[in-house]
Amino acid sequence: MRAVADSITITDNRSGDRVEVPIVNGGVDATAWRELLGDVWFHDPGLTTTASTTSEITELDGDRGILRYRGYPIEQLAEQSTLPEVAYLLIHGELPTQAQHDAWVHEITHHTFIHENFRKRIFDAFNYNAHPMGLLTSGVAGLSTFYPEAKNIADPEARLAQIIRLIAKMPTMAAAAYRFFKGLPFVFPDNADDYSTRFLKMMFDISNTYEPHEVLVKAVRILSILHADHEQNCSTTAVRVVGSAHADPYTSVAAACGALYGPRHGGANEAVLKMLAEIGSMDRVGDYVAAVKRGEGRLMGFGHRVYKNYDPRARIIKDAAHAVFEVTGKNPLLDIALKLEETALADDYFVSRRLYPNVDFYSGLIYQSIGFPTDMFTVLFAIGRTPGWLAHWNEMLAQDQRITRPRQLYAGPAGRDYVPLDQR
Ligand code: SDX
Repeated sequence: MRAVADSITITDNRSGDRVEVPIVNGGVDATAWRELLGDVWFHDPGLTTTASTTSEITELDGDRGILRYRGYPIEQLAEQSTLPEVAYLLIHGELPTQAQHDAWVHEITHHTFIHENFRKRIFDAFNYNAHPMGLLTSGVAGLSTFYPEAKNIADPEARLAQIIRLIAKMPTMAAAAYRFFKGLPFVFPDNADDYSTRFLKMMFDISNTYEPHEVLVKAVRILSILHADHEQNCSTTAVRVVGSAHADPYTSVAAACGALYGPRHGGANEAVLKMLAEIGSMDRVGDYVAAVKRGEGRLMGFGHRVYKNYDPRARIIKDAAHAVFEVTGKNPLLDIALKLEETALADDYFVSRRLYPNVDFYSGLIYQSIGFPTDMFTVLFAIGRTPGWLAHWNEMLAQDQRITRPRQLYAGPAGRDYVPLDQR
């Protein structure tokens, strides 16, 4: 058998048969094993060692703490770009020319409204104190009923029209959920504003008096870019799985919202604030860390499946936090967060497990200082992540991927006959 520089050989010891599989782009093709292994499956709960797809969108290097969107470093995009421009990059693969940028922003700007029937009625079905993520997830799924043409998922133009609508409407839907949650009147999107300013006004304006400070607008812009994509995370996997069934993009993105709502994923930034408030003071950090080491809970905002070094986003957010606190005043939980990071990074329990602050550790402090309630933090994550979800949905359909349907290892009872109730 020809020796191949980069390959693996699998031998089935039951038959002595072997197959050599080339290592291509860091992976080996699982279908190459089928001929050899038949009905023997690789067992990988949580998909911790499985590449579920091939993608050209985002590159993570967990050991070196690198994050690039279509090859561009996150540090440069966070400092110089906007979410609409990053959305264009993620979806189209290249930074837009001036003409492409202006046309794209025009399209997004003119699709920010949600149907009045929908806006007035969707949230009224919920309790006054409904969690905004529950409102957003329901609202996004409901949008599918207003755009039946979204089912034409084989048509690239139809896909692009829905992509623009979702990027445009997520902030409007999010702000509407917040205003409903606070019992405040809805604020219509002002198309004269940029994406981040428009969102802040829809959130916080009262009687056309609110003009967000430029530092706060910049922080929201940076945070949305940092959250825009992160390769095959839990919620992006959800949008790919549901999208592989050829569900429409609104339903697929609603599934992603559901995954993001989980405290292990997008709900972590909300959980970090609750953790810091529970610790309550710097002198109680040591006791809290000791409890975590005893297995009594986790440091929320710490650890990551891919990053085994400092999450590059956390570093950028930490810097942005200081700029925000110059305007809003220091968040009283900051000192506890800094002490917690210092304590954990000096403790072998965390260092040996390569647990570092992730994107969620400092983001909540900024959001809280700007005035967002903790219930809104995951909603903010969803606004930022929408372009990434849609870029992966679009890529998966362009790849004409088969429906996602993994196998299992059955460990249940063998076949047995039904026993009538009076004989049990
Ligand atoms: C996001 O995937 C993405 O890209 C996600 C995200 C994105 O942009 O989409 O980056 C956004 O979800 C960031 C993560 C936010 N979640 C949290 O901050 C919650 C706290 N973190 C963890 O629950 C955990 O770190 C995960 C869920 C993030 C990662 O879990 P893994 O990779 O499955 O790690 P693991 O559970 O296998 O843990 C390995 C070890 C275990 O210890 P041992 O059993 O080996 O003794 O590390 C421990 C864990 O107990 N551990 C932690 C810990 N995270 C892992 N111990 C204390 N505190 C933690 N936070």
